[in-house]
Amino acid sequence: MNQPYASQAVKTGAVSAPAYVKHAGLIEWVARMAEMTEPDRVVWADGSQEEYDRLCAELVAAGTMKKLNPAKRPNSYLALSDPGDVARVEERTFICSEQKEDAGPTNNWMAPAEMRQTLAPLFKGSMRGRTMYVIPFSMGPLGSPIAQIGVELSDSAYVVINMRMMTRMGKQVYDVLGSSGEFVPCIHTVGAPLQAGQKDVAWPCNPTKYIVHYPETREIWSYGSGYGGNALLGKKCFALRIASNMGRQQVAQDGMGWLAEHMLILGVTSPEGRKYHVAAAFPSACGKTNFAMLIPPQALGGWKVSTIGDDIAWIKPRKDPATGQMRLYAINPEAGYFGVAPGTNEQTNFNCMASLKENVIFTNVALTPDGDVWWEGMGPAPAQATDWQGKPWTPEDGKAGRKAAHPNARFTVAAIQNPVIDAAWDDPAGVPIDAFIFGGRRSTTVPLVSEARNWTEGVYMAATMGSETTAAAAGQQGVVRRDPFAMIPFCGYNMSDYFGHWLGLGKKLAQQGAHLPRIFCVNWFRTDENGKFVWPGFGDNMRVLKWMLERIEGKAQGVEHIFGTTPRYADLSWNGIDFSEDSFRKITSIDPAAWKQELQLHAELFDKLKHHLPQELVEVKAALEKRLAA
Ligand code: GTP
Ligand code: SPV
Ligand code: MN
Repeated sequence: MNQPYASQAVKTGAVSAPAYVKHAGLIEWVARMAEMTEPDRVVWADGSQEEYDRLCAELVAAGTMKKLNPAKRPNSYLALSDPGDVARVEERTFICSEQKEDAGPTNNWMAPAEMRQTLAPLFKGSMRGRTMYVIPFSMGPLGSPIAQIGVELSDSAYVVINMRMMTRMGKQVYDVLGSSGEFVPCIHTVGAPLQAGQKDVAWPCNPTKYIVHYPETREIWSYGSGYGGNALLGKKCFALRIASNMGRQQVAQDGMGWLAEHMLILGVTSPEGRKYHVAAAFPSACGKTNFAMLIPPQALGGWKVSTIGDDIAWIKPRKDPATGQMRLYAINPEAGYFGVAPGTNEQTNFNCMASLKENVIFTNVALTPDGDVWWEGMGPAPAQATDWQGKPWTPEDGKAGRKAAHPNARFTVAAIQNPVIDAAWDDPAGVPIDAFIFGGRRSTTVPLVSEARNWTEGVYMAATMGSETTAAAAGQQGVVRRDPFAMIPFCGYNMSDYFGHWLGLGKKLAQQGAHLPRIFCVNWFRTDENGKFVWPGFGDNMRVLKWMLERIEGKAQGVEHIFGTTPRYADLSWNGIDFSEDSFRKITSIDPAAWKQELQLHAELFDKLKHHLPQELVEVKAALEKRLAA
């Protein structure tokens, strides 16, 4: 690895690694980072149950977590964060490539040298009074040829226990790493050094935050936050921002490269027993976890859905061993779910509620008097509760608009607790993808579902997707912004080059006679005149999924319109639901005036991305405008 700071003086004697750590470069790096951040001690996390239990007990003693009532929620905890540290901080997230244009106009950028200078005084002594944990993890099944190894150094025990759920974390990783294996060095500090004798706060963090990626040297430096994607560095920082770079750089090696996407992966089996796999990209808090676990309505006659992943997909081309034909295969690099709690209940997501019965870390939900958890949309509100800021809460407060759980409150749970986990969820070979779905949260304009006519038009639809912002990121909520491929906060390089990578991969696969996935766009979120969702969503999304699979089988009909094909009322199955043709029209109508405005927004996006913007997409847009004007 090309680490520009490797020449600095090092006191390797400062840390002593366990005998099973045989990687001199890793030990040297840990020593150097310890020398910089000055923790009281360095602890090499082994990923064992004993370690997990001990850290949980320490976090309870420190006031960071409460143990929930074991009779209600065995082996589970509630953590309440600092009110200023509740979501990803996109404004403070940086892609520090050598060239600004390689980060592109959608990422914050600073020259690597300048960023290193900026971070140096912040990281200097930042772990004083704390423990530095060395957290070895694998994204993807351990030892699999597609997996990647990372090591996160963090001064947060909460990060250690979450990483153990979310990744394959523990000392087994060192066997794979050996004495010279490659790993992505990730360093994280909450940025709250302690003076000797000073009492710690329950959720240490710093108002100053930096989430920094160096794509060329493949490093991650995170400062000041302890929450979610800011701090669990295997997730968005590695598995999306760094991995998207890895996937594109691979093109130089094999002509194709691979994709790191903000996508769920599900398996779906028809009543006749035919199995398909679908990968779907929806922006943060727009329905991936729910779609990945959905329960098909019984009245549809025996469809089954199983989960491979709920947030991230790594997608690679390879030959189908049975047919010899090239296809795209997807793996879930994670091992757990860090999912949105509010809105989750037995009706909307029964499988998720079943996953959350025990062994869960909840963050920023409300605590009930009997030591269990509650959140908005879980079911009837308790007569009283303690809200996510630790204050007393009653349903009266709720009526006055004060929420008991933070809208971005989350649960952390191991994937294997999902009752509908797919048998192949951790198959290193991945699952073959039959369809890509892209969807945003749009109260108007975008129809329930449409199928792109071809790969290029599908890429155009994904590239121009808009969505209303949610509580998953700090900042204003409910404003429509362009969120290409649901990757605007996560693409680790120039977005126009990313479009080019998608187009190029499609082209190369087609040249090789590959079986290319179909591309669909969905919108579950159109609202009526009272602001209510018209489409029931959740399990009923199966009706739309069924139509897509029947399109693939050449069975389902639809009508062509300006940007693809949508089903008519009669083309969907309505067994077991009372959903009128009038309501259907409300969520599928395509209003030419609204689309004229929409295309204006596409034009603004393309103007922003004009550097390296693929000409094919400009052509699709021109053709769309022509059809719209006709
Ligand atoms: P991230 O983990 O942030 O990437 O989010 P996600 O895409 O996995 O979103 P998730 O499935 O957790 O859903 C976010 C919110 O949207 C929750 O409050 C859900 O209850 C709600 N939601 C999910 N699916 C649907 C749907 O089909 N219809 C409606 N109306 N709401 C939904
Ligand atoms: C998202 O915001 O898309 C998440 C949660 O999945 S976090 O891990 O915080 O990024
Ligand atoms: Mn996500």
